[in-house]
Amino acid sequence: MFSLWSNIEIGVLFLIALFAWRAGASAAKLRYGGSAERLRRKTRKTISWMAALIAAIGMEIWAVVEVWAHSEWILSQDRVAVHLPIVVIPALFVVGCAVPRLFWIWRESGRRTGAPLDPELFRQASHPLLVVPLRGAALCALTAIYFYLVPPVPFIPADLILPLLLLGLLIVGLSHLQWYRWRRLLNDRDAASATLPPLWKRSMRTLAVLAVAGALATGGIALNAQASRLPEHLRMDEGAMDYGGGIAFPHGAGHGEAAAATAAAGNAASLPVTRLTGDVSGTPDRRFTLTAQEAKVTLSSGKTIDAWTYNGQMPGPELRMRQGELVEVTLINRDIAEGVTIHWHGLDVPNAQDGVAGATQNAVRPGETFVYRFRAEQTGTFWYHSHQDSQEAVQRGLFGPLVVEPAGGQDAGIKDIVAITHQGAVGNDDTVRRERAAPGTQVRLRLINTDDWTIQRYTLAGAPFRVAALDGTDLNGPGELTDTHVELSTGGRADLVFLMPDHPVFLSVGGSKERGILLSADGGGEIPALPKTRAFDPLHYGQPAEVPFDEHTPFDRNFTMVLDNKFGFYDGSFTNLYTINGQVFPKTPMFMVREGERIRVKIVNRGQVDHPMHLHGHHMLVLSRNGERADGSPWWSDTLDVRQGDVYEVAFTADNPGLWMDHCHNLTHAAVGMSMHLMYEGVTTPFEMGSATFNRPE
Ligand code: C2O
Ligand code: CU
Repeated sequence: MFSLWSNIEIGVLFLIALFAWRAGASAAKLRYGGSAERLRRKTRKTISWMAALIAAIGMEIWAVVEVWAHSEWILSQDRVAVHLPIVVIPALFVVGCAVPRLFWIWRESGRRTGAPLDPELFRQASHPLLVVPLRGAALCALTAIYFYLVPPVPFIPADLILPLLLLGLLIVGLSHLQWYRWRRLLNDRDAASATLPPLWKRSMRTLAVLAVAGALATGGIALNAQASRLPEHLRMDEGAMDYGGGIAFPHGAGHGEAAAATAAAGNAASLPVTRLTGDVSGTPDRRFTLTAQEAKVTLSSGKTIDAWTYNGQMPGPELRMRQGELVEVTLINRDIAEGVTIHWHGLDVPNAQDGVAGATQNAVRPGETFVYRFRAEQTGTFWYHSHQDSQEAVQRGLFGPLVVEPAGGQDAGIKDIVAITHQGAVGNDDTVRRERAAPGTQVRLRLINTDDWTIQRYTLAGAPFRVAALDGTDLNGPGELTDTHVELSTGGRADLVFLMPDHPVFLSVGGSKERGILLSADGGGEIPALPKTRAFDPLHYGQPAEVPFDEHTPFDRNFTMVLDNKFGFYDGSFTNLYTINGQVFPKTPMFMVREGERIRVKIVNRGQVDHPMHLHGHHMLVLSRNGERADGSPWWSDTLDVRQGDVYEVAFTADNPGLWMDHCHNLTHAAVGMSMHLMYEGVTTPFEMGSATFNRPE
């Protein structure tokens, strides 16, 4: 509903600007009527444009009221408090000043005939109060459109006041000009028989106005572009701090004044991320080597791709391990000039192992090696990918699946299939993959979506199934589902389990029969018909179980994360920015926490597209969505797809000290600043990013 009405609203604002502009232009020509008959015709035209304008304003009011009535204040506040007055106030002037005059002219011009115009009729037809409200309404509508494209939320006075001031000046200037002309006109005896100036003269005037506006805009653009440049050196332990309404504490970056303040306050000594390794002594239970290298990869259709790979494969090799094992992964960068790391997406490893370039390590350059060591504490379906230039790296192929089996190993009878989807392929297959599964076999499909900015749709045809796990966390008492498809945003995972029937079962990826996995006793058989399905929704799915929080939990901190988009500059170029609390990285705040605290975050999506928010190092328990309590199985997420107009409340315990990225996993969004981090008290980093460094996490 929110997205529908917000789309209607922007459409209507454009119509208002158009109609007001047309009505104003038409009103400005009335004085060139010449004869009463022609004036009457022109007046009728003006009245029709004005009627259209008033209808559009009515529609705008309706749209704003719909958004207001059906969504949270944070979603509607700018519409109600900014757009509405900007549109309604000029409408009052139109109705109060222009409408009665126009009708008077229309009536009187019908009573009189011939040329020249009667002086009173001419006086009214050239009255500034016809033109100014209509032109003013057009300027106001343009301002409202501006505020739609660059929402002043969260409220920053300058962002709101400067454009309004400019609008006010323009309207005052316009009125002055109109009254000045009118006074001159009334003193001019021949004015009533004047004809419309030639087109070239009018065009010149318009061009002059546009040139001045253009020059002003260019100046503004250059300044903004410059101001948006990323600094040469940037440390992720510095920046704006948000304490979520909890106890503030000094936080210094371990150097300079801030550090002195921290030390003076007797705070915990600075804790560099490199020390947050966890206990990784002993002999590893499992060792892997991943070599980042460029390679040609051949898909099942025979198509070849120039990819960036781990071990020459895309996706990279499946890393399988057991819970509790100590794992060592050696990363070698053979020839990826842009650098590489490995981030264990969804595994809540100690911070030093998190693999974020510029935050927890330096990007590994060609010829260099980096060793990760961690204990696999969780079981479930995960994936790994490079977190250096992640947008490009993942898209090109630097990713792979990671599965943690229970400590005792997985039940031997289970048929375990990883379906990691990426750019039109499931794993390496861009044609239907065929698998054997004897009737009666338990099948576990591990779905992983790595496609950037794609909500992938998975449909299981031929057998009822259960969603056994989401984002690497088992669901409690999941019920049986039919005619349901599962949607995963970028980075999300779901495990589907089912009992193999005596006929083929098909996992369709993307809703087609061309892509997916066919299971049957002998690997042959026909693809079953795809049912009509509805989307799986975890909010009320499965059985409740014990969780560390509920609606009565006293939280130590309550953060708000407002997701939105606006037009602006990122690192010097103009783009559609994806913002968190009105800002893009590095101006987004850090959420400051202390170890052991209970944290609640309210995530609101005011924007036009979905944002899968990924918090590193922690799993978030979904408490509610749009005020509706999550009352099924506990729903722990690490990549929560927040759709347009959605408001989620999530909670987690700050139990993994470090500096943790919290970003949109539509990596295209993260790359233009939709990124921030969770910062533990006292934690510092010796690593840097910025344009003069090699590290580019996103
Ligand atoms: Cu899967 Cu910060 O990433
Ligand atoms: Cu996003």
